[in-house]
Amino acid sequence: MTRFLHSNPKSRRSAHASVAPLNDDEGIAAVAAVDVQKTYHLGSVEVRALEGVSVSAIHGEMICIMGKSGSGKSTLLRQLSLIDHPTGGEVFVDGRVTSGMPEGQRARLRLERLGYVFQEYALIPELTAIENVLLPAMQLLGNAGHNRSHAAELLDAVGLGDRLDHRPKELSGGQQQRVAIARALVNSPSIVFADEPTANLDSISAKTVMDTLTRLNRDTGVTILFVSHDPDDAVYASRLIYLADGKVVEGVSL
Ligand SMILES: Nc1ncnc2c1ncn2[C@@H]1O[C@H](COP(=O)(O)OP(=O)(O)OP(=O)(O)O)[C@@H](O)[C@H]1O
Ligand SMILES: [Mg+2]
Repeated sequence: MTRFLHSNPKSRRSAHASVAPLNDDEGIAAVAAVDVQKTYHLGSVEVRALEGVSVSAIHGEMICIMGKSGSGKSTLLRQLSLIDHPTGGEVFVDGRVTSGMPEGQRARLRLERLGYVFQEYALIPELTAIENVLLPAMQLLGNAGHNRSHAAELLDAVGLGDRLDHRPKELSGGQQQRVAIARALVNSPSIVFADEPTANLDSISAKTVMDTLTRLNRDTGVTILFVSHDPDDAVYASRLIYLADGKVVEGVSL
């Protein structure tokens, strides 16, 4: 595997976290973290999960985030996707400073621009596949988000056109993961985050899921950041970011 490098050499760490990092060729980064820290407090125990991480993704990139268990991969994805608030540093989405943003505006930005595929699918068990896919659209647009034909098209695109009315327990793990991908796409995000999208899958389902993400990136230009434990998955990426102990390790290639 030779195509895949290390942390983006073009990304510049900004001296001031309120200044959006630029990429030389492409203008403003799709998403960027500048000196992001995340510390968890559990009683008297302090866990420093991210210790000053600076990364950025250019529009259209497909980035694989790797590192040992506990290195901070999920924590980083949650900060970049605005699911969580960092303890320090700044996250930029399309050049916009996100710290201090009112919660409503932040939620709207997240729903409009960012899709998230959870490792454990996180589908609502009582809802059918198509209802699960519609959920973020309804959160964003209310009843106007009830666009069943759009949701059906997305499920069709991930090979589940004949499973619209199945509930999660009536689907295989790989099929549930593909429902989760369709759900992440329903609001036409410009960036999709996927946390270990293949970790719970057999090798054939894993390949189908990775092929789905690759096709999405190639055909629609959606920026994708995915986490994986599996070195084989890095072949799908245009770039590798390696984390160890809450920090980016430069120069790792597989
Ligand atoms: N909510 C939390 N409260 C306290 N500590 C946490 C919390 N979430 C994560 N941590 C700690 O932060 C560190 C980084 O966790 P994280 O889940 O980001 O790792 P990871 O690289 O995704 O690991 P894995 O590959 O096992 O999923 C770990 O030491 C973990 O125990
Ligand atoms: Mg994780």
